[in-house]
Amino acid sequence: MASGKCMTLLISLALVGMLTVDRAASQNYGDALSKCILFFQGQRSGKLPSNQRMNWRKDSALRDGSDVGMDLVGGYYDAGDNVKFNFPMAFSTTMLAWSVIEFGQFMGPDLQNALDSIRWGTDYLLKATNFPGKVTAAIGDPNADHNCWERPEDMDTPRTSYVVNQTHPGSEVAAETAAALAAASLAFKSADNKYSIALLKRATQVFDFADKFRGNYKDSVGQGVCPFYCDYSGYVDELIWGAAWLFKVTNEQKYWDYIQNNIPQLPKQVIRLVGGSTHLQAGDSLAEFGWDAKFAGINVLVSGLVMNSTNSNPYVPQAGNFVCSLLPESPSKSATYTPGGLLFKRDGSNLQHATALSFLLLVYSQYLKKYNGAVRCGNVNAIPSRLEQIAKGQVDYILGKNPLGMSYMVGFGQKFPQRIHHRAASLPSIGEHPEHIKCKDGTPYFQTKNPNPNLLTGAIVGGPDANDQFPDDRTNAPQSEPTTYINAPFVGVLAYFKAFQKV
Ligand SMILES: *[C@@H]1O[C@H](CO)[C@@H](O)[C@H](O)[C@H]1NC(C)=O
Ligand SMILES: *[C@@H]1O[C@H](CO)[C@@H](O)[C@H](O)[C@H]1NC(C)=O
Repeated sequence: MASGKCMTLLISLALVGMLTVDRAASQNYGDALSKCILFFQGQRSGKLPSNQRMNWRKDSALRDGSDVGMDLVGGYYDAGDNVKFNFPMAFSTTMLAWSVIEFGQFMGPDLQNALDSIRWGTDYLLKATNFPGKVTAAIGDPNADHNCWERPEDMDTPRTSYVVNQTHPGSEVAAETAAALAAASLAFKSADNKYSIALLKRATQVFDFADKFRGNYKDSVGQGVCPFYCDYSGYVDELIWGAAWLFKVTNEQKYWDYIQNNIPQLPKQVIRLVGGSTHLQAGDSLAEFGWDAKFAGINVLVSGLVMNSTNSNPYVPQAGNFVCSLLPESPSKSATYTPGGLLFKRDGSNLQHATALSFLLLVYSQYLKKYNGAVRCGNVNAIPSRLEQIAKGQVDYILGKNPLGMSYMVGFGQKFPQRIHHRAASLPSIGEHPEHIKCKDGTPYFQTKNPNPNLLTGAIVGGPDANDQFPDDRTNAPQSEPTTYINAPFVGVLAYFKAFQKV
């Protein structure tokens, strides 16, 4: 009797132990997910709502758009500065929406927070496209902004609005905006059907404008967006990407025809900005995915719609080539990894590639599973769980399993970046220091070796170099600056591993 009771106690202790270990593991991804989404509140521009949780941030840029007779208040600052660049902002919104579409079911209470983060983007994008035949491309003179180290709440640099139109078009910014609105319409379909319908209606109008009035926004509003967010890869990828999203949402034949008719025009080479000058990079355009180049994203997204159908060419083979370019054991691997195991594309905000490509691997693994598929790389057969394993390796590296033993997400884990390149986070908050801090008066806060006073919780920085090193130096923007497009795809990835951490 006694021993029996003892046995039961032992078993239940063992069970408690297992549950604790288990919960600890899953809590980590869940905690990272909550923080990853919270970060977007720190990037908010405009009038902050009463339920704002990142409280050290306050209202800012409340007259945006007044120079062109539009209300353009709201949206996101793209990174550590105070410019609203619509092209990467729209891409980040698309990726937040795609995260919810694929993995929202695993987000639990954070699903609402994720939807709020999308809406903060789409409410602004609706304003940015409020007049037919016009799409806002950016707000805030980027050179004046970058010349100051100033809180967004204090900004006194010119808030110039850069808008493309029929005579001065910008197909990449317009088509990416259409993609964001279309993807968000799907994300909101069951949560807010009225909003979803409004988003889709606008997406179709904006896509038509992007297609009918073709041009590079560099030629129309270049001084407002270049060299920061020039679209080096051209706008054809954004047009196809926009059409692919509209096809996914509406299933209309005209969007399918559009994809098919335009896919041959997709460049085989990509142009990249490396160390301040542009280079033509041949061969691996299919393995690119980010705010500039949508290639791998198009193939993965469309593959999910046509896998096992007679329309699977060229999308499924090319999505396979993309996977094979990343797989360490693949004979056609072109990606490089740091000695510690991080996918390393190139210097300068490298983690944007690690998060976006991990997202694609994970999404593609789900599509493959649905069709009992796998990817063949020469003599190597990659099953879906192998793709997940690679994505998980990147997640774990970013969250702390790396040679420095540090997390690259602010506020996550014991050791994380303290001196991120971010104006708002590095200057004292309005609450602590209500007096205006002028443009150049912020310089000492930029230069100090002290940690930032404000925690931009959830911000993922540019990350370590090719040798897994990270100086945690505010003046090193390529490694220390967070951006919305590093975090956005990570939201979906973390939601998946929160639910299935034992891959
Ligand atoms: C079209 O956009 C260009 C560039 O932003 C601007 O200079 C021009 O005034 C605009 N034209 C109209 C009719 O709004
Ligand atoms: C899709 O095609 C693959 C390979 O031809 C096949 O093994 C699989 O069963 C198919 N899946 C579905 C759901 O039809």
